[in-house]
Amino acid sequence: MQPLTMDVGNLALAIANLEDDEGKQRLDALTDDLIRHGRLYHEEDAAEIDDRTYDLLYRELELLESRFPDQIRGDSPTRRVGGAAVSGLVPFPHAVPMLSLGNAFNDDELREFDARVRKLLSTPESDVETVPYVVEPKLDGLAVELIYENGALVGAGTRGDGETGEDVLHNVRTIRDIPRTLHGDVPPRLAVRGEIFFRLAGFEAMNEARVASGSEPFANPRNAAAGTIRQLDPSIAADRPLTFFAHSFAAGDDLPGIPNHSGQLEAIARLGLPVNDLNQTVEGIEAVIEAIAGLGDRRFDLAYEIDGAVVKVDPLAWQAQLGFLTRTPRWATAFKYPPPQVTTKLLAIGYQVGRTGAVTPVAHLDPVAVGGVVVSRATLHNQDQMVILDIRVGDTVVIERAGDVIPKVVRVVGDEAHETRPKPAWPEACPECGTVLVVDPDQAAIRCPNSLSCPAQLRAGIRHFASRRAMDIDGLGEKLVNQLVIKSMVTRTSDLYALTRGQLLSLDRIGGKTADNLLEAIDVSKERPLSRVLTALGIPEVGEATARDLAMNFGNIDSLLSASEAEFLSVKGIGEVVAKHIRGYFGDPKVQSEIDRLRELGVKFTPVEVSAASMASRALAGKTFVITGTLPSLDRAEAKSRIEGCGGKVTGSVSKKTNYLVAGEKAGSKLAKAQELGVPVLDEAGLIALIESGGDDA
Ligand code: IVH
Repeated sequence: MQPLTMDVGNLALAIANLEDDEGKQRLDALTDDLIRHGRLYHEEDAAEIDDRTYDLLYRELELLESRFPDQIRGDSPTRRVGGAAVSGLVPFPHAVPMLSLGNAFNDDELREFDARVRKLLSTPESDVETVPYVVEPKLDGLAVELIYENGALVGAGTRGDGETGEDVLHNVRTIRDIPRTLHGDVPPRLAVRGEIFFRLAGFEAMNEARVASGSEPFANPRNAAAGTIRQLDPSIAADRPLTFFAHSFAAGDDLPGIPNHSGQLEAIARLGLPVNDLNQTVEGIEAVIEAIAGLGDRRFDLAYEIDGAVVKVDPLAWQAQLGFLTRTPRWATAFKYPPPQVTTKLLAIGYQVGRTGAVTPVAHLDPVAVGGVVVSRATLHNQDQMVILDIRVGDTVVIERAGDVIPKVVRVVGDEAHETRPKPAWPEACPECGTVLVVDPDQAAIRCPNSLSCPAQLRAGIRHFASRRAMDIDGLGEKLVNQLVIKSMVTRTSDLYALTRGQLLSLDRIGGKTADNLLEAIDVSKERPLSRVLTALGIPEVGEATARDLAMNFGNIDSLLSASEAEFLSVKGIGEVVAKHIRGYFGDPKVQSEIDRLRELGVKFTPVEVSAASMASRALAGKTFVITGTLPSLDRAEAKSRIEGCGGKVTGSVSKKTNYLVAGEKAGSKLAKAQELGVPVLDEAGLIALIESGGDDA
């Protein structure tokens, strides 16, 4: 969903101008959209829109909610702080919630922020006229809290939903910039917060190494940082050049005797914690505005990405006096820089064929640097967009690169010759396989109908199949997939499981070790749980969340193959259109034969739970589990998702209320605690047996 207007100044007016019906509909749709973007960002590390657009949409939702307070949904993102903890990591409760920041999109909004601050601090006797502020670069990374006790690093957690994050101490310990012990005059306890991130050079070197070894590069430093820190295995983080800057404290957990934020930061820097040396202390909001502009001018010359600047009231006593709103402090705000735009020339329009056959126009540009990155291609979205832009080859165009998102053409710079240039012709045949394209009236898209043998669709389909959130086959990068398809070694996905060492060795730049690693990765992927396999198949309209719902409700692939449209429709969250697509997909004889072949070649479609979901989803209802140690075959996330799939709950610490402890190898203190409290202990086999028996009455 696009923001109603990119100009915040006009937002309130634009909303006031909406008809009631329109406004309510927009509120509802926006709530859905923001929930989805929040999930993509916080839980899937796969943001589709940049931060600033998210913030604009969020602002719009807040305004709509204040206009229609009785339409506010219980699940509205304005009612909660952030994403929930989802991986198999142990929960990390925050003694003091980790909040987010309000936004200012332009200088006037900064002045409004300052006016509010001064008003709240002023008394009838004395007006506060000038506030000392700290201006800090806003790093685009992952927020963490570090706990030091008597100078020793004893805890580290992500932000999560603000109340409870995930314990990531095992990974944080691998970050060289984060001291394990502080030196000097250490306080008994210090809870410091900051940002974990990649410097651009480290990020690029890491990505080059990934591509060279056949893996997919990460889309951007933020996703890479989040994806790395939330791994269970610390050797992954240890191999990646993560860094850290401290920027704040849990309220009340600062150093005694230092009256302002800037002094606090200087003091923790002396204890050994890295603090950004671009932080500035200034007097009054006009100086803040100047500092932010100065930082903005330099932002693409920095060694790391920043997406804005944070402005904080410096005196801690004033911070305390100003206090907090529900999810943001009143004493700080975040200024978001607009995404960089540049003009360049449109050299040609190409057409790209995606996994589903949809044909997308791509602008080929005279290469130009936008925000530190050289761009030679930008998306034009679809045919409608091209008509709206009235874009023609030879035009000068404005392109924008917003954070992680693919650069896009925002408008054409009019010139006299524009009218004389021919309008672009839409292709009639697939640029890859020559098949006549068809118009898909539902989606205003044009697609190549040759879904079985169009090489472009096959390549994109295989890369999707092997991607991290699907079958997670490491080493199957773009170049390798291209070769496999060109050499016809893979003509459908199931061929991956029939690849031989000899075939791989005949490819360019593939040695014995690479071939063996890839074969091993392919082999391991056979065990992926049903939900992942369903994501991998690329069923139309079925993303990760729907794949999970399907797996949970149907349990195994045979039930899915034989289910009716009505049965799909009965699954919460699946509507008519999606149900029809799913039924159509599983009813297709070609799909059925591909699924049969995958099974013959060893793909297990591992059921998420064994009994029918309607039964199983209640089997462990009301039971609380704790998982500890290393289980022989399930990873922690899988064990957790199986338990949750049967209605059970997984928590982080053993108490009298715990029904079962699931213990694997190297179980430690939790096992001892469970034995002490008489909590039944299961091994992996015991857990599976319990699920299969439909739960007993422990
Ligand atoms: S202060 C109570 N300072 O931005 C506010 N946050 O939307 C505490 N961030 O997740 C945050 N750079 O991790 C602060 N210099 C900075 C920051 C910063 C980045 C992140 C922070 C938080 C988000 C707030």
